[in-house]
Amino acid sequence: MSLYRKSFAEDMSFTEAVRKYPDRNALYAYMHHYYKYLAPEELREHRAYFTSQHRGFGEDAFHAMWWLLLREYRPHYCLEIGVYRGQVTSLVGLIAKMCGYECEIHGISPFSPLGDTVSTYLKNIDYLEDTLASNRRFGLSDPQFLKALSTDAVATEYIRSRAWNLIYIDGNHDYDVVLADYKLCRDSLAPGGLLVMDDSSLYTDYKPAKFSFAGHPGPSRVMKELALSELHWLGGVSHNNVFMKT
Ligand SMILES: C[S@@+](CC[C@H](N)C(=O)[O-])C[C@H]1O[C@@H](n2cnc3c(N)ncnc32)[C@H](O)[C@@H]1O
Repeated sequence: MSLYRKSFAEDMSFTEAVRKYPDRNALYAYMHHYYKYLAPEELREHRAYFTSQHRGFGEDAFHAMWWLLLREYRPHYCLEIGVYRGQVTSLVGLIAKMCGYECEIHGISPFSPLGDTVSTYLKNIDYLEDTLASNRRFGLSDPQFLKALSTDAVATEYIRSRAWNLIYIDGNHDYDVVLADYKLCRDSLAPGGLLVMDDSSLYTDYKPAKFSFAGHPGPSRVMKELALSELHWLGGVSHNNVFMKT
């Protein structure tokens, strides 16, 4: 899986990659290979920074997924629910800079160690300062962060306040919260907007390798019961699923 494979050595858009590899497991292998052998070096440096000292979650293949997706769709208004230490907000900023398009990046997170029934996070970190410092390290301007839970009134108003071109849901993983996040985000996407749901492939045919993870029950249930029928599924890379509001 980690070896260079000529058959995978083709630089495609996200859409082309899904078309060529409709099977989730094959698409994952393509993305993993892309990250290792085709992705720009800046992306691997970014990932290496966030994997060190537990600064970020996820899998190497996700950097390839974000690169192909954002390079293709160039979303302007972007929102992440559940920022943690800023891996994805800074990656979105970095890719926009590399591809030369304008992008406004927003994030809603408690910026504290607050977890849920399936996750615990490091204590003794000033999450907001840490996230801003990492973002600046990549020469990026500060994203617009709201320190709140996604279910707080201030956050739900914030989400409703514009039509987003991309929303990434990766906050609280408990079913009721994911359901509330999903419904609000679905309604707040611009036409053609993208919704990426983290940790949501548990009830699919994805068979994770040792270093991969299919997801948690809460997001996977919402993805299966609602997103798959209400939105247009573009593709799935490991536990991330990408949808478009048509
Ligand atoms: C799995 S981490 C996000 C990881 C991040 N996307 C990354 O790639 O490194 C989940 C984050 O959501 C935050 N969180 C927990 N409950 C939340 C809620 N109700 N609303 C928003 N964020 C929440 C957690 O504190 C944590 O920072």
